[in-house]
Order: sequence, then structure tokens, then C-alpha cells
Amino acid sequence: MTLTIAREGNIAVVTVDNPPVNALSQPLRQALVETVAHLDADPGTEAVVLLCAGRTFIAGADVSEFGKAPEPPHLPDVVAAIEAARTPWIAAIHGSALGGGLEIALGCAWRVAVPSASLGLPEVKLGLVPGAGGTARLPRLIGVEAAVDMITSGNPVRAAKAEELGLVDAIVEGDLRSQAIAFAREALAKPRPMPISARPVPAVAADFWPSVEKGVASKAKGEAAPLRALSCIRKTTEADFADAMAHERETFLALRQSAEAAALRHVFFSERAAARPPELAGVTPRSIASAAVIGGGTMGAGIVAALRDAGLPVVLIERDQAAVERGLTNVRAIFEGSVKRGRMAADIAKARMAGVTGSDDYARLADTDLVIEAVFEDLSVKRAVFARLSEVCRPDAILATNTSYLDPEAISEGLAHPERFLGLHFFSPAHVMKLLEIVPTKSTAPDVLSTGFSLAAKLAKIPVRAGICDGFIGNRILKVTRAQAERLLLSGATPSAVDAAMRAFGMPMGPFEAQDLGGLDIAAFQRKAARERGETPFAPVADRLCGLERLGQKSGGGWYDYQAGDRTPRPSETVAAVIAQAAAGISQRTFTQAEIADAIVLPMVNEAARILEERVALRSADIDLVKIHGYGFPRWRGGPMHYAEARGLREVVHVLERLATEGLVDLPCDGLRRAAAAGGFAVLVEERAT
Ligand code: NAI
Repeated sequence: MTLTIAREGNIAVVTVDNPPVNALSQPLRQALVETVAHLDADPGTEAVVLLCAGRTFIAGADVSEFGKAPEPPHLPDVVAAIEAARTPWIAAIHGSALGGGLEIALGCAWRVAVPSASLGLPEVKLGLVPGAGGTARLPRLIGVEAAVDMITSGNPVRAAKAEELGLVDAIVEGDLRSQAIAFAREALAKPRPMPISARPVPAVAADFWPSVEKGVASKAKGEAAPLRALSCIRKTTEADFADAMAHERETFLALRQSAEAAALRHVFFSERAAARPPELAGVTPRSIASAAVIGGGTMGAGIVAALRDAGLPVVLIERDQAAVERGLTNVRAIFEGSVKRGRMAADIAKARMAGVTGSDDYARLADTDLVIEAVFEDLSVKRAVFARLSEVCRPDAILATNTSYLDPEAISEGLAHPERFLGLHFFSPAHVMKLLEIVPTKSTAPDVLSTGFSLAAKLAKIPVRAGICDGFIGNRILKVTRAQAERLLLSGATPSAVDAAMRAFGMPMGPFEAQDLGGLDIAAFQRKAARERGETPFAPVADRLCGLERLGQKSGGGWYDYQAGDRTPRPSETVAAVIAQAAAGISQRTFTQAEIADAIVLPMVNEAARILEERVALRSADIDLVKIHGYGFPRWRGGPMHYAEARGLREVVHVLERLATEGLVDLPCDGLRRAAAAGGFAVLVEERAT
């Protein structure tokens, strides 16, 4: 870390250089406090420009300090020192001013930013609230409503929006340093603005808090930090600055120790680690400058959109001209939907679409770097596609399948140059969902595997390597989730009770609502295939519902009844009768929400332990990422593995044993018992290494 001071006449330019993101580590906090005192003592300095070297302004706290006791000088004191300085400070922002970085900027008299800068208080994303005056100063500067939005969502705003909100005083084009100095010179001719901490808090309407609390609670889905942040902002409107600061600091310090913050930190670090698996260190990925997708249905269209969003030109291949048109229409609908929702400018959507070439001629793929297959889930159809690709593609082109359940080894049988083949399993909708399961076969070359990870980075997705088994990591666990949900029905729980319990656990949707939305036919099709393989999938109620053509919302009813044009799930007498029939002879009881969640989540953990043992997942954190980014597992619980470890694996084993005596779950597997005895899942990974 270095902090340098340069002089431009009566202006001092303080440059912070603390790679990679100028995080507010203790040495930097110390240096800033000392610099304030040093420059205040210098009569030749009349203003200070605070600038950062490298790719960004101060992008936040030093996350590695989070698990430790805070060390002085504390950030609120640093911000207060800057705000109270004799010489006004000007924050010159490029890259991101996030968290403590923005709080420092709020201590400055003025803020200028380049157009590409973004500013935000993302603390809630780590289970925290801003800890250095963010909730006390931001409402004073931009108003309570806008501050509530920024702080409780944690989402940053771009420079233009920040200017509109009054968060930055000017957007400067060109060289930030010289523009900020020019701004400082002009600013010195004007009166110095009142420190933000001394300004009044704008008033809010009488009914503001109840409605906002309701909105924030519903979005938070059980997560504590957004509501705690809201209480800090409310305190700002009701108390003086010092009291609001004290409340904020107290909340911040309490949340730092919370299980929720620990879970969110675990996810944060796991996500960063996922992009760079150690086993691929030093393996250079192949370069991908062009892509093609075979099949323009639900998944194909979404994958095309994701590739276009990453700037790659894409060829979309379909069976015939009519199917090409349908595929292109599917892709267009995705971009148009983004425009309608205000997420994309119309001209950008047009440019994205212009980069998609539809064709039914495989010869178009002669020079394509990467081809992703997303045709029907049928082994012979997929094999025929790869046979064609073998003929037309360059031998070094990477060929990938998006299969959900088929065996990639079987799909790639007979492929020329099988080392360039792998599974790239996207999740629906593919342009939105962050998860990408990367599935190598025995033949996949390391640089091809590595390209899967670099592609994920390009697509802004979270890559997780998965071994081959039915459903890979995510869908294999999903089968357990669904089977357990049905098991509960047979013992007396209703679909709405199960769904409500899982929502209370933090899932965006319960397992039955989710099936009604996606359609019950996909899973029925997989069960049929499994039965043909001699397996005995468990879905006594779902099988009966499919027999009645109750396939979900699309058929007007599934686990629930629906009225025409209304997606509200209504408990169904037909379904109740089907459940009663399937449950004949099984003893019935009532369940608490916690018991329901245990009977679903803990068997997922049990299956995950097997997945780790079998090396289908390399790390337990990978399983957490899969369930969070592909299946809506609450991020603030850290994923199923973190949740189980935080709760205590012995307790998990104990609860499973108890539920097993009632026939509600299977007994814990050996791997889970060994992990419990060892105090964590790491032992399952270590065992494999020896
Ligand atoms: P879909 O039925 O919506 O689309 C399949 C498309 O492939 C159709 O447009 C069809 O015309 C085209 N197609 C079929 N044979 C072709 C051929 N020989 N050449 C070119 N195009 C051909 O199916 P969906 O849902 O998009 O699934 C595609 C693949 O993605 C399947 O393997 C599926 O298991 C997998 N998948 C599906 C997910 C989902 O949620 N729907 C999630 C993840 C993977």
C-alpha cells in the first residue's frame, strides 16, 4: 500500500495505491488519517483531490479483515476526519466507489466521477449494514427514499444516475486527475458546502415506513441485513447524527459476528474461488472468438442470448428453415423482453440480434471456435448432431452438450477428437441464471476444461465442475428435494404447507409451486427413462397427477388448481384426494415449518455428502454454489453444505436418524456420518486425496 501526495499549486493530490482494489485495510485507514492532519497543517494547501491508482476508486473494506476484531483507526473516524478537515477534500472517482469507499467519498466536500464509475453501499450483500456513516449521511445527501433503495438493495448506481440523485457533483470526461484539479479550482471560488453530517434529513410521508418495511421484508426472504439497514436509516430520520451513527455502528458490529454474515462471506469467497480452480492452475484456455448453438428452443435461445451478451458472434443452427425462424424469434423475444423491462436500450437489442446468424446448414460452422448443442434430450438425436459436427468443424473447435440427464460419455462416443468435448450445463433461463455446470468426460483435455471456466467468466457465470452421474450435481439433489416433498405429503403435510415452509426457509418458491411453473412433464419423462433403466424413482403423487394430465400451470392445474388468466395457486380437492389415495395405510401427523424444512433440506445434504464422496463435486463449496445459483437456495444460509456445517453435522445426523424412525427420510449415509465425526465435509475431500 502506498499513499502519495503531489502538489498542483494550492491543491494537493492524494493518490491511494493499494492493489488490487484499493481496499480500506488498516494501513490505508492509518495513512488517510495522518494525511488529513499533515495537509491541514500545511498552509499552502487549500483543497485536496483524493484519487486512486489502478482500476478503481476505493472499492470497499478489506474483506479479509472481516472475521477479525476491528483495528483502529476505525473507518467512521477516518470519514469524520476527512469531513472535518480544514481543507475541503474532493473525491475523484473511477471504477467503483463501494461500501467504505463511498463512505469516504461522503466525507469529502465534493464528489466527481468519470461516466463509467459506479457508486454503492453493497454491505447487505455480505450480511452487514454500512458501518461508517453510510446510513446516516446518504439520506441527508440524496433523500430518504433513494437512500433506502440503494442501501437495502445493495445495488450500485452508475455515474449518470448518481449525478441525477445528487450523489456526485459533476461527471468529468477525459483525464480524471486534471479534471478533478480543474473542478477543485472552480470549487474553491464558491462557498464550501455544509458537511453532510450537519445537514438536515429530508422529511418522509407519515405512511412511508410501514409500506417500505413491508416491501424490504418481502424482498429479503428471511435475510436480516436489509431490515437492519432500514432500521438504521429510520434512526437517521428520528435521531440526531451522533445517535444515528452510534446505532449504525452497533448494528454493524453485531452483524459482523452473525451467522448470516459468515454464510454470505463463505459464498462470496467461494464464488471468487470457483472461477480459478487450483487443479487448472497454469492451464491456458483456448481462445473463443466465435460460437454456435445447435437448437433454438428454450435453452438454445437463452444460450445464444448469453453468448451475444458477452459479445461473441453466434450462428444458430436448427433443423430446417421454419425452425430457424422460430429459433430466431425465440432469441429476439429475449432481447425485446429486456427492452420492455427497461434493462436494455432498443439499439443495443438490435445490435445483439444483428450478431446472430440463423441457418440450417452445418457448413456454416467450418471456422467456429465453440459449438454448444441444445437439441432434444434424446441420445440418438444428440449423437447425430455430434456426428455432423465431427465432419464440419475444425478439429480444435470445442464441442459441448447442454444435456441435463444423458451421459456425456455416451453422447460423445465415436466423436473425432473426443478431447475437445465436454458438457456445459446451463440453467433456465440461460441468459439469466448464473450457474454453469462444467462436465468433463474421461477424454476431455485440460485446456478444453479450462476453456469452460474462461467461457463462464466471459458470460459472467459461476462455473462449477461436475462429474458424470444422473443429473450431475444440481438435478441429482433436486430429485431428492422433490422425493422428500412427496414423502411429506404421504405423512399428512399438504402441498401448500410444504411450499410455505420452504418459502419461510428462504426459498423464492416452494417445490410444488416450482413444478407447476416449469411443468410436471419434464420430470415424468425422466422418471420414465429411469424406469426403463431398471430404477425405481419415487413420485407416487406426481405420477398420478401426470396420469390425470395435471401438468402444472400450462394445463390449468397441477399440484394446485388455477383459474384462467390467474397464476395464483389454489389448493385442489382433486390433488387432496390423490394424496389420500397414495397415502392409504401410512400414519398421518401434523408438521411444523421447521420439521418440513428439515425433512427436505437435510436429505439434500445427505445426497450431497455422497456426491462429494463420489467426486461428482470436488469441493463442498461447489455444491453450495450450485444450489444457490441454480435452484434458489437462500444465499444468506450459505448453501446446503455451509448450512449443515453451521448447524453442526452431528445434529444433522441426529435429526435424520430421528426422522428416519418415522420413515420420513433415509438414514444418513456413511460419508455424512464420517463428516460429522470429523467436524466437517473437508474430510470427504481429504479421504479421496489419499
Ligand atoms: P426445446 O424442445 O425447447 O428445444 C430443442 C430445440 O432443438 C428445438 O427447437 C428443435 O427444433 C431443435 N432440434 C432438435 N433436433 C435438432 C437437430 N438435429 N438439429 C438442430 N436443431 C434441432 O428443448 P430445451 O428445453 O431447450 O432443451 C434442450 C436441451 O437442453 C435438452 O438436452 C435439455 O435436457 C437441456 N436442458 C434443458 C433445461 C430446461 O430447463 N429446459 C435446462 C438445462 C438443460
